[in-house]
Amino acid sequence: MFDDIAPSYDLMNRVMTMGQDQGWRRFVVQKAGDPGNGWALDLATGTGDIASLMERQHPAGKNIGADFSLNMLKEAKKRFADQAISWQASDATRLPYKDNSFESVTFGYLLRNVDDSLQVLKEIHRVLKPGGRVVCLDTTPPEKNILYPFIRFYFRFGIPLLGRFIASDEAAYSYLTGSTMGFHKAEELAAIFRKAGFTGVDYKKFMMGTIGIHWGKKEE
Ligand SMILES: C[S@@+](CC[C@H](N)C(=O)[O-])C[C@H]1O[C@@H](n2cnc3c(N)ncnc32)[C@H](O)[C@@H]1O
Repeated sequence: MFDDIAPSYDLMNRVMTMGQDQGWRRFVVQKAGDPGNGWALDLATGTGDIASLMERQHPAGKNIGADFSLNMLKEAKKRFADQAISWQASDATRLPYKDNSFESVTFGYLLRNVDDSLQVLKEIHRVLKPGGRVVCLDTTPPEKNILYPFIRFYFRFGIPLLGRFIASDEAAYSYLTGSTMGFHKAEELAAIFRKAGFTGVDYKKFMMGTIGIHWGKKEE
């Protein structure tokens, strides 16, 4: 599915989020902090935006953008050919990196797509250095407040319709709606981060509570 939507992924993102998505990625990079001259990993990097922002913000760091979709990596490589980022094929459930390797691990819209968030977070914990920082951007199920019917309508009908016209793939964007509604609530996800071993876990919501950014660190 991710291979198929790769060519239209960026345009769809900008339209669907009304231009807000890059601001959230900048917040992710800010929370990940400065890797110094160490390694920073952006997992599920897709077309590479977070890895690219990281590299521009902290040029002394060494950046890896990793994903299991080769088409996504191809787009990333094309878009950021001028940047010194190592694009690597890897599966977040079985990371091909040694223990204690990274100063930070970031990931946008990964956990919603895996079967077992805890297992992936433990794997990320394993590859982080002690004191290393984790930052996760994802959609989060909206709360049942006065805005809920409008948000639900947008997710149920608006996003799949945009998917049909922009990405020619209504099914992929219906999947986004389904996987968002069925995903952990922000507080539940924070608890899973703690269970995986992270400390200082906290989160912030954006876009009427439909986007969550969680962060934490591996104990020194
Ligand atoms: C919605 S895209 C997000 C891309 C990017 N992080 C962003 O901010 O736009 C989700 C990405 O996660 C990748 N992905 C999903 N499951 C994965 C896994 N188990 N290992 C590696 N990448 C995965 C997909 O290939 C896809 O590129």
